[in-house]
Amino acid sequence: DYALLGDKIVPKKEISVSLEDRGYQFGDGVYEVIRVYGGVIFHLEAHLGRLDDSAKAIYIDLPCSLRKLGELLGELVKRNGIVDGKLYLQLTRGVHPRVHFIPEGIKPILTGYAEHVARPLTSLREGISALTVEDNRWLRVNIKSLNLLPNILAKHRAKSQGADEAIFVRDGLVTEGSASNVYGIRDGVVYTHPANHLILNGITRQAIVRLSEELGIPWREVPISAEELARMDEVFVSNTILEICPVVSVDGRTIGDGKIGSVTASLQAAFEREIE
Ligand code: PDD
Repeated sequence: DYALLGDKIVPKKEISVSLEDRGYQFGDGVYEVIRVYGGVIFHLEAHLGRLDDSAKAIYIDLPCSLRKLGELLGELVKRNGIVDGKLYLQLTRGVHPRVHFIPEGIKPILTGYAEHVARPLTSLREGISALTVEDNRWLRVNIKSLNLLPNILAKHRAKSQGADEAIFVRDGLVTEGSASNVYGIRDGVVYTHPANHLILNGITRQAIVRLSEELGIPWREVPISAEELARMDEVFVSNTILEICPVVSVDGRTIGDGKIGSVTASLQAAFEREIE
């Protein structure tokens, strides 16, 4: 197994984390999760662009150009023989005796690895359940930061109540999932939260917006209220791993007839044509 360390591919077992890595001590860093289909990295440029945006937002420099990083990831996929899988990329500020301020002159640490992941076919066909939880995250979640404690606790709450995903609600409005974007469909129109500081603008979300336009499905960047959510005709969530995943119940209430809705199904079909 090989992994990425800085601008080199090295055997995975050669990588170790320092006690004083700021990612380890403070969550002082950013990350990306990228999909691989048929040995090809999916939406590579978009993910690298977002990594760059996240890094800039917290004043970390990437150790190499995005172009070089893209090449390294391609090599990582190849050297590990990944066909259908994912890449995890993490950039931390680096190693320094623990201080709260941003130390000068330290070297950021970029690591990455690849693993096999099958498509979540059962969830895609049968849908998942969701539980709404209060969105108590900070106000800059458009940065894909390593600090995921609220997401973890929300997911834990959902799981302990038998639900698959947690859906965050802020001031009565649905923002996004614990690790996904959320959409509701009513009368054929797709509603989703605007891509501002209150959500992570998913790469899958951006593909869905484009596909909606191509399919002539009207979509609006208008938040859905928590009360409206369970009354939508269809609900789905999206992320790099889950793709376009129907949500068939929210807080124990069945959405529509409890099966994949027709708009969700047509978006799924269009998405699938792109990954083949
Ligand atoms: N998370 N919103 C949040 C809070 C997320 O964590 C994610 C993805 C998304 C969807 O983004 P994308 O379509 O680019 O995957 C939205 C990844 C999968 C994770 O943390 O594992």
